[in-house]
Amino acid sequence: MRQFVYFSQSARTSGNFNSDKLMDAGRMDIAIHSFIQGVFLSHGFRKDMKFHFIFYGMPDPPKHIEIQVKDDLEISKKDVGNLIKKILYKYKPGKKTEVLPGCFIEKKSFFKLIEELQEEGNEIFLLDKKGEDIRKAKIPKDCVFILGDHEGLPKKEVKRLKDMATLVSVGDKMYFASQTVAVVNNELDYRGI
Ligand SMILES: C[S@@+](CC[C@H](N)C(=O)[O-])C[C@H]1O[C@@H](n2cnc3c(N)ncnc32)[C@H](O)[C@@H]1O
Repeated sequence: MRQFVYFSQSARTSGNFNSDKLMDAGRMDIAIHSFIQGVFLSHGFRKDMKFHFIFYGMPDPPKHIEIQVKDDLEISKKDVGNLIKKILYKYKPGKKTEVLPGCFIEKKSFFKLIEELQEEGNEIFLLDKKGEDIRKAKIPKDCVFILGDHEGLPKKEVKRLKDMATLVSVGDKMYFASQTVAVVNNELDYRGI
């Protein structure tokens, strides 16, 4: 299964943000755009993939949100901000809570998540402009693509990831986070992965 992990050092870790001011919620707008490019199709959803958010903003980092669209999940492109708010509000310390069908929240660090995904047999890729051309990369069916927000991933995290992940590039330009998700989805669709 393909999976994406969106990392943000600043995205809010509580639901008490204003959905009309998403840029003030640690650039929650970028998280939402990336999720939409990951999960939505013109006339449906990608139900055979998972999208993860790792948020390190205030007031209670880190938070891990995992979403896999299920038939009984009510979801609209216009309302992803409120979906994330609802999930954050339902966080309960000490456990992974399924807030809505396929939507989970827990306290988990970025590297704990990546290690778990690796242990489950996934190959990890880091989306990085300086990586190898994605068109030439060998990509298995069980693959995880990590991307950063407007600030990218902190240098320390990138350094540690280099031992765990293959760096892949979608081109020589610096794209929006959401644009890279669309390109990866398209590449995997072409390959039938
Ligand atoms: C807007 S970019 C981050 C810009 C940030 N100033 C930096 O230097 O990393 C958001 C994310 O998109 C991904 N990205 C952007 N352009 C890319 C490219 N050409 N190839 C692969 N990933 C890219 C990276 O994961 C990056 O963290």
